[in-house]
Amino acid sequence: MDDCKCSLVDGILNKYDNNKSNLIAILQEIQNEYKYLPEDVLNYVAGKLEINLSKIFSVATFYENFSLVPKGKYIIKVCDGTACHVRKSIPILNAMRKELGLSESKHTTDDKLFTVETVSCLGACGLAPVITINDKVYAKMTPDSTIELIKTLRSEG
Ligand code: FES
Repeated sequence: MDDCKCSLVDGILNKYDNNKSNLIAILQEIQNEYKYLPEDVLNYVAGKLEINLSKIFSVATFYENFSLVPKGKYIIKVCDGTACHVRKSIPILNAMRKELGLSESKHTTDDKLFTVETVSCLGACGLAPVITINDKVYAKMTPDSTIELIKTLRSEG
């Protein structure tokens, strides 16, 4: 099992008494560690909790917060709720995708530095249009200011 830091996963499982009713909390902690849910780790968890892998997949795909694919170091969320949308969130999204070579179906750059996603209202409509980068909020963005931000992050690596 290449990707499985099994002793780490065992620690998480033990913390939740190896109890399958804690599956969501267990998956959350695993995702915090790996930044996504690697399939071989889920396989390991299924064996340990004696539940079907497909059951774990159905939980992991049900909740938007779980990811089955690796994400970038910088996770950028572009708000496309109503307030942000009318204040031109889509041009921001498009500019960012163009700069990073991403699209609607490709969310993460090949160098695994950036992931770009859209979200509905981030709850900061007065600051629209809003983006977040790893949960830090950036207010009143424009396509240009977003590109500047990306360039800064890229130079920091
Ligand atoms: S619509 Fe973007 S923060 Fe509310």
